[in-house]
Amino acid sequence: MRVLGIETSCDETGVAIYDQDHGLVADLLYSQVELHKAYGGVVPELASRDHIRKTLPMIQQALTESATLADQLDAIAYTAGPGLVGALMVGASIAKSLALAWNIPAIGVHHMEGHLLAPMLSDNKPEYPFLALLVSGGHTQMLSCEALGQYTLLGESVDDAAGEAFDKVAKMLGLGYPGGPEVARLAEQGEPDAYRFPRPMTNRPGLDFSFSGLKTFTMNTLANISSPTLQDKANIALAFQTAVIDTIRIKCNRAFKLTNHPSLVIAGGVSANIALRQMFDRIAATDNRNVYYPEFKLCTDNGAMIAYAGLQRLLMGQVEDLAISVRPRWPMTELNSDG
Ligand code: KG4
Ligand code: ZN
Repeated sequence: MRVLGIETSCDETGVAIYDQDHGLVADLLYSQVELHKAYGGVVPELASRDHIRKTLPMIQQALTESATLADQLDAIAYTAGPGLVGALMVGASIAKSLALAWNIPAIGVHHMEGHLLAPMLSDNKPEYPFLALLVSGGHTQMLSCEALGQYTLLGESVDDAAGEAFDKVAKMLGLGYPGGPEVARLAEQGEPDAYRFPRPMTNRPGLDFSFSGLKTFTMNTLANISSPTLQDKANIALAFQTAVIDTIRIKCNRAFKLTNHPSLVIAGGVSANIALRQMFDRIAATDNRNVYYPEFKLCTDNGAMIAYAGLQRLLMGQVEDLAISVRPRWPMTELNSDG
């Protein structure tokens, strides 16, 4: 089986073709970063318009590069939510129109399920049940994954997502967008003992996260320095990043104890963070756990994870009509077959 995947939920146009026997046979990504850079964040209307320009030519290119004829495709998977409504509508409209023209099913994929399944595109795949920590620009969620489409939400951010906090701190420090990789780069020059930032919501039980206070703490620390040098900023970037990672570590340890699952999947844009991976690799080695991440290029938004998740949904028998509808807000637990 061969599935075309289309990702247009935010500021990346992703188009990929996943083949059940041959794996990824096409994987194209166009980032709108340059378009939004001047505004310091994603401008939804500009994002939609750019997806309109890019998606069809990229589909054409993916078909050509993988020598795939339209009648060799078994389905078209597209991101149906959560995300920016206009951007989602572009992918949904194109997917449904091509599905009608080619007489194959269109399959709406949950963006976060796409992230969750991205590590399955690697040779070393996690086996259910496992814990999943999804850390992206829009979401921070801890899930217990019993099987494909059987997810229990154990905790989530009550305010900013982890990636969002990275982006906002980057802005404070005068760094570019998207901020995560920039903060991480600056943090490499930080002095480890210069500051110790709080680990939010770790002194009470539970698996929810809150990064908004940490962001304010970072802002106040910066404001208290009359003319911050590059070294001050690097120290702050490192203290912030360390606090985020350590908070995540504490919550993951709690989740391990709660569920007894032997494995953890960390996915979403922030899972590209090297310091975070180093921390979890250490835990895996000392505590005899298995930790899985997507390949670096599949941590942030991409079409490959949507094609892969779409194939899994197709194999599960998911069907939908040709009405074009998207879910800008869509709790992941609504995916459960019994929910
Ligand atoms: O998963 P993603 O591509 O988009 C959403 O679904 O939101 O995640 C993007 C987020 C951004 O907030 C970005 O700053 C963050 O992931 N990010 C990182 C790193 N690379 C991307 N955060 C920390 N360290 C990184 N290396
Ligand atoms: Zn994403």
